[in-house]
Amino acid sequence: MVGVLFVGLNGAVANTVITGINSNISFKDNTFLPPTIDNDYTEEELKSFGSIIKTEYFKGIDFIDESEFIIGGWDIFYENAFNMAKYHKIIPFEYYYKSQSKLEKIYPIKGLVNFWDSNEAIGSEYSIKMSSLKTFKEAVDIVRKNIDNFRRSYNLDNIIVVYLALPLKMIRKLDELYDLSYEDLNKIDPNYLPSSCAYAIGSILEGCPFIDFTPNLTLSIPFIEDLSIKYNVPLAGMDGNTGQTLLKTLIAPMLKLRNFKLIGWYSTNILGNNDGKILSRSEHRELKIEDKLSVLEPILGYSDFEHVVEINYYKPRYDNKEAWDNIDFMGYLGLPMSFKINWLGRDSILAAPLVIDLVKHLDFAKRNGFKGIQEQLAIYFKHPLKSRYNNILKELDLPIKTYKDKLVLSFFDAFNLLYSFYKRNVKAKK
Ligand SMILES: NC(=O)c1ccc[n+]([C@@H]2O[C@H](COP(=O)([O-])OP(=O)(O)OC[C@H]3O[C@@H](n4cnc5c(N)ncnc54)[C@H](O)[C@@H]3O)[C@@H](O)[C@H]2O)c1
Repeated sequence: MVGVLFVGLNGAVANTVITGINSNISFKDNTFLPPTIDNDYTEEELKSFGSIIKTEYFKGIDFIDESEFIIGGWDIFYENAFNMAKYHKIIPFEYYYKSQSKLEKIYPIKGLVNFWDSNEAIGSEYSIKMSSLKTFKEAVDIVRKNIDNFRRSYNLDNIIVVYLALPLKMIRKLDELYDLSYEDLNKIDPNYLPSSCAYAIGSILEGCPFIDFTPNLTLSIPFIEDLSIKYNVPLAGMDGNTGQTLLKTLIAPMLKLRNFKLIGWYSTNILGNNDGKILSRSEHRELKIEDKLSVLEPILGYSDFEHVVEINYYKPRYDNKEAWDNIDFMGYLGLPMSFKINWLGRDSILAAPLVIDLVKHLDFAKRNGFKGIQEQLAIYFKHPLKSRYNNILKELDLPIKTYKDKLVLSFFDAFNLLYSFYKRNVKAKK
């Protein structure tokens, strides 16, 4: 058994993971597809779509199965997983109603909030206000205690913590946090670092692998990776790569190799979930927009093109996001051409299997002695973090570039990185 603690347990993505794992699906229950589609998929097949690990390339690796996850986590909204699933309406009721009694038992631990959180989170009654603590270290100790209680309740060896709360405000730039050390936590004000750092540091000190699926600067702060090396803890981040950016990492390499010159790329998104609401606020969106904007230039190798990314909050769509891309480029003799992409994704349905995969990867990493940022997991992120300790590109002799603190990869290079990592390490073990 492996413990999985979500920060943001009641959010759309975490709840989709929990409800998805606890669904009993038969293809005939699918109310979305027309009856003319063949209905002979098994439950196992239906649960494998969207998971990279469940492709033929990763067969035979001893990943834990999601049926062995024991789930818990923090939130600032007190409700159980069954009622949250009914609220989100992302997964059809027919899929999960049989697990009602199990889901009704999953309630969140009180979340920690500080000035970096959304105003709604700061105003929540079901939260620990970090302002009421004396130092940042006290917040870390609360997280440690929560993890230890969970570990003891279920007698768990390994617990993975997944950060799925909100994109936080940018109160302080990363440059200002560069020289911070672990010892400073006893001195700094509880609002100095984002609340996400209390979760990350607490997890590392408890020996728990930590995944950041959000566009926050948590794992970019150098001393946090230093700590993970010291405590033998693997990390993965940041910002899940689920839609529009995924397409950019596929199309930009084609433009480059086919020698078309990009003139402009206009991307716009509408989504109506809580993530969309928060991202529509300028103080919360800076890193997300930066992650989305910074993918083309390093792949193409030039920057003289227009690149616009918009995210608009549009309530009627809730989790059913829509993204439009218009790509203008030049061909032979400089003549202009363009193409458009219209991506109609279900945000959390895209994200959930990636989160499940990531938990399995970090459980594997922990069991096999890997620590620090796990660069082989780049395929899962919009901003795949480069480790200051591990250098997997060199080890695997892959010609992949880096840009600031991120790895720059086309989708297929990222896939090769992951595939080569397991080929090498699983063989080495035998
Ligand atoms: N396709 C995707 O869905 C996708 C892709 C990339 C990144 N992400 C990121 O994943 C995160 C989760 O997305 P979502 O759609 O589930 O968002 P959501 O708003 O539905 O869920 C966030 C949850 O976190 C809780 N929360 C807020 N502050 C907290 C705190 N300090 N401590 C504990 N809990 C707290 C909220 O109450 C909420 O339940 C977002 O940051 C989003 O940007 C999502």
